[in-house]
Amino acid sequence: MARLAQLLAREVLDSRGRPTVEVDAYGDDGSFGRAIVPSGASTGRHEALELRDRDASRFEGLGVRRAVGHVTGAIAEAVCGRDLADQAGLDAALVALDGTPNKSRLGANALLGVSLAVAHAAAEAAGLPLYQHLNLLWRARLEPGEEAWAQPSLPMPMVNMISGGLHAGSQIDVQDFLIIPIAARSYSEALEWTARVHRALGRILARYGEEAHLVGDEGGYGPRLGSNARALDRLVEAIAAAGLTPGHEVALALDLAATHLYDPATATYRLAADQASGLPAAALIDRLEAWVERYPIVSIEDALAEDDWDGWTRLTSRLGDRVQLIGDDLFVTQTARLLRGLEHRAANAVLIKFNQVGTLSETLATVRLARRLGYRTIVSARSGETEDSTIADLAVATGAGQIKIGSIVRSERLAKYNRLLRIEEQLGGPEAAPFAGWPAVKIAAPATNSFRRGPGSAN
Ligand code: PGA
Ligand code: ZN
Repeated sequence: MARLAQLLAREVLDSRGRPTVEVDAYGDDGSFGRAIVPSGASTGRHEALELRDRDASRFEGLGVRRAVGHVTGAIAEAVCGRDLADQAGLDAALVALDGTPNKSRLGANALLGVSLAVAHAAAEAAGLPLYQHLNLLWRARLEPGEEAWAQPSLPMPMVNMISGGLHAGSQIDVQDFLIIPIAARSYSEALEWTARVHRALGRILARYGEEAHLVGDEGGYGPRLGSNARALDRLVEAIAAAGLTPGHEVALALDLAATHLYDPATATYRLAADQASGLPAAALIDRLEAWVERYPIVSIEDALAEDDWDGWTRLTSRLGDRVQLIGDDLFVTQTARLLRGLEHRAANAVLIKFNQVGTLSETLATVRLARRLGYRTIVSARSGETEDSTIADLAVATGAGQIKIGSIVRSERLAKYNRLLRIEEQLGGPEAAPFAGWPAVKIAAPATNSFRRGPGSAN
């Protein structure tokens, strides 16, 4: 049995050039694991706390030396010597050592770095690829009758094409306009179609003079479009231009990150690009419904603000039998928030981000609870990312069904997409590797009536 011998940590930079925590874990058998913690911009109020130095003389106060110090100090002292394979025990010890409800004493960035680095070291100690090691941890907590959830599978990607909101200077309000290649038969085919649409979209934006060269934090185009619906028009056009049929082969998805469009003082929403303010939840839902009827939208994330439970209940009863409704800021990957969602009949899917909760075991618990409650799961990156690709392995290990990484450019995104290609190869290649596909997303067939396959069509 390998034991945790040493923890090292350092401040490194993420894809926005901001500091984040990297942790190295060494086993007493020579095994090694490394993890880098990601960081959000449109963060939810209920997320576990990301500890920053607040020392204005470095990185505008965003340094993480205190979190790094906690890893090599209090945390190392408490957890070195533990069995590397006992992830649940390690994570429980980390939570207890912090002792606060939102991990604000040691920092969720310190705790998560340790939790994930140890998982990597444990996989190496066991001689397993990470997704297989994580799959064993995942299976270990399944109950009789849940065996069908035990198999690893490649997730369907939802891929950012156009960025707005806090990720792209708020040119348009909706944070992410994404595509889902719903008719793709394998993960690698999904990726190829996505790349094709991305290139077609770049050409189309350039043709309209909409500054296709502006890029958001997640690599999506950040064009000047004038309205939110125009982004949907451009996407439909791009899918067709790529030789694919909107709604049949490739569908659309949105992330409104609506917490950031909400004014708590008036309890209303603002869509500045559409010259609409003072919208009560019901009026925003009407707009979304009109979009769903007009465009092949199959998934909407954070359509309403993180504490607008009444709005979420209304949204879910209006659209929940037609569209995947994902809670991100709403659930913050936490079981208590998800249970509250069930009570309110809010949403039908949950975004899964390690650093919203702070440890691997708690993340697995949220995925497990989501399954049991009938919520879909989408493993997600943050807008601030790094070369760390652990989320790819997590998505496969838990058969999460879907993954959201950002656009298909920029290496902090490609680190994950390419990791999934390697896993697909290990699982037998595109023909044989289990792929979650459209059934993992589908609530109902998208609106397709008015869309046609474009000129690049082969058949
Ligand atoms: P964030 O954005 O990482 O900035 O929170 C990602 C998302 O909202 O899904
Ligand atoms: Zn989101």
